[in-house]
Amino acid sequence: MNVSVVGESLESVRADAIVVGVYAEEKKLREPAARVNEAAGGALADVLAAEKFQGKVGNVTHLHVNGKPAARRVVIVGLGRRADTTAEILRRAAAAGLRRARDLGARAVAIEVLGDRLPARQRAHAVVEGAILGTYTFDRYKREKSEKQVDSLQLVEPDSRERREAAEGARRGEIFAEATWFARDLVNAPANDVNPTHLAKVAQDIAKAGGISVEILDRADCRKLGMGMFLGVAAGSEQPPKFIHLTYTPTGRRRTKKVAVIGKGITFDSGGLDLKSAEGMLRMKDDMSGAAAVLGLMRALPALKPAVEVHGLIAATENMPSGSAVRPGDVLRAMNGTTVEIGNTDAEGRLTLGDAICYASQKLDADEIVDMATLTGACVVALGPLVSGLFSNDQALADRLLAAAEAAGERVWQLPLVDEYRENLKSDVADMNNVGPRGGGAITAGLFLKEFAGDRPWAHFDIAGPAFVEKDTPLSPKGGTGCAVRTILAYLTDAGR
Ligand code: BES
Ligand code: MN
Ligand code: ZN
Repeated sequence: MNVSVVGESLESVRADAIVVGVYAEEKKLREPAARVNEAAGGALADVLAAEKFQGKVGNVTHLHVNGKPAARRVVIVGLGRRADTTAEILRRAAAAGLRRARDLGARAVAIEVLGDRLPARQRAHAVVEGAILGTYTFDRYKREKSEKQVDSLQLVEPDSRERREAAEGARRGEIFAEATWFARDLVNAPANDVNPTHLAKVAQDIAKAGGISVEILDRADCRKLGMGMFLGVAAGSEQPPKFIHLTYTPTGRRRTKKVAVIGKGITFDSGGLDLKSAEGMLRMKDDMSGAAAVLGLMRALPALKPAVEVHGLIAATENMPSGSAVRPGDVLRAMNGTTVEIGNTDAEGRLTLGDAICYASQKLDADEIVDMATLTGACVVALGPLVSGLFSNDQALADRLLAAAEAAGERVWQLPLVDEYRENLKSDVADMNNVGPRGGGAITAGLFLKEFAGDRPWAHFDIAGPAFVEKDTPLSPKGGTGCAVRTILAYLTDAGR
């Protein structure tokens, strides 16, 4: 979607549809809806009255006009009570408005910078982000492609004093949303195409296009580094594993700190020899959602130019059963020398992430390590499908990430790393077991990862719930959501300063 910010007024702008907002519980229309109504000879107010339009968040309606306003379709979105305006409300309103315009056949859409209560930059960001996120579709594998698609969005800001702020916000919103689209595409594509080699190729393309550096380590390289946990998971698969390392370096001498961002990159999780049930396995192409988030956000960094050095790491492999697969009871040796007994081959994500955390710590000497992983079904039981779990050994880092998630509009809830549960990971034969009891499974997984972070500030997002939605949500259709991309981009670009 091509985004621009224009100074024309909404009623005169050339487009197939315009989108205006209406607050709830207000007697009179505000600008710009009032002027659009006037141009349309009162038709907008008539429709609102006839439909008893309440202006609640999620309400959408439309009318067709002939000549005035210049756009033939007018879409009206509810904004809720004016005093309750939040960026998330604006995102959802823009998403709903753009979907309606698209479904009416509009290709070029103009929208006001909804929500006059917030600063222009924030509103513009939210509106553009919502518009792009809300109109995501994935039809790469379908013969029949949807004809209906919005390809240009004009953000209308008639006030010249606000326009620069609006343009900056719009640009950020566009970058955040496109990074999320990119991640969604990778998650939605099937595992027979998105294998570790494909992820490595995508990383190389990103590096080339963005002028950032990339290193791909193959099995032999990883063996030299001692990544026994990662290679143990990869042992059962025909697909060769790839350890992906992208580096974004800020220009000049501005570097404030070095952050490693790790994504779980299991391109298909069958469970391994501890095979999943048919139902449990069905969705497991999405077990690389953390990796998809890393690729999406690394791709966006050259345009956003944060002052942070960012290392994007993915230990990519499938988890498959075969004669060469790791067995329950096997002992693997991590990059930091820790030995791990395999209690269950389906707890593979923590093994791959553990070695990636060692790499970030030992090889990169990162100041902070943040991982994102579809790690446990237990986290979905705890928080449901819409909320990510956050775990950290450093409360200041956790607080900054929570603030970033809030700003980005992603739901995250911190869960405790209960010290006493550490003993659940004890093994009779090795330093640790990779699984504990069922209760508190998301916490045990977090405690397992924490062992590899040592004293280094580290945080872990368990995105097993929100990475993939089973039904349409306000900002994402059914399927991969690109969860965590916006939170991490917000973190690296402001909260992280
Ligand atoms: N990839 C799964 C976690 C998962 C489950 C994500 C459901 C999304 C939806 C992970 O590798 C896994 O299999 N975890 C096991 C751990 C158990 C064996 C300790 C789980 O959650 O059941
Ligand atoms: Mn698993
Ligand atoms: Zn998994």
